Amino acid sequence: METTLIILKPDAVQRGLMGKIITRFEEKGLQIVGAKLMRISQDLAATHYKDHQGKPFYNGLVRFMTSSPVLVMAVRGLGSIAICRKMMGATFGSKAEPGSIRGDFGVSNSFNLIHGSDSPEAAARELSLFFAPGEVIDWSRPVETWVYDSSSGKPE
Ligand code: RTP
Ligand code: MG
Repeated sequence: METTLIILKPDAVQRGLMGKIITRFEEKGLQIVGAKLMRISQDLAATHYKDHQGKPFYNGLVRFMTSSPVLVMAVRGLGSIAICRKMMGATFGSKAEPGSIRGDFGVSNSFNLIHGSDSPEAAARELSLFFAPGEVIDWSRPVETWVYDSSSGKPE
């Protein structure tokens, strides 16, 4: 099982889209194992987006991410990192495919609603940045037996 960090960005929270976006992950069969509303500090935004430091969009990105509360989530499932990235759609709202979160709910390139970790290394790093030990909760779902085929002994 993989766990990925999802952030519903300030525009998603302000536009009242949290519920619709969470519903997509739940309906897909992914499990929410962490969630909190928070205001991202300058320091946390800088650490989180350190790979983008120096790029032309960096200052605007940090300003946007710290401008208003976000909802951070830990989302678990087999292959959840790639699945969530696909559900998010392409980075720019203007280019994102219909059917994806960015494609269905936004048109802006910078106000693009959602962040998702892009690799296992990024997921581990970002989860530890946003969640303290104990805030990601291992809980079992009876429906797991219908979300995955475990007849071979391991979930598929
Ligand atoms: P994210 O990190 O937020 O999940 O988005 P992403 O992987 O799809 O895109 P990334 O390349 O990591 O860029 C991070 C965020 O910076 C803004 N951005 N603006 N104007 C631009 O050229 C540009 N490029 C990136 C977007 O808000 C993007 O989500
Ligand atoms: Mg990224």
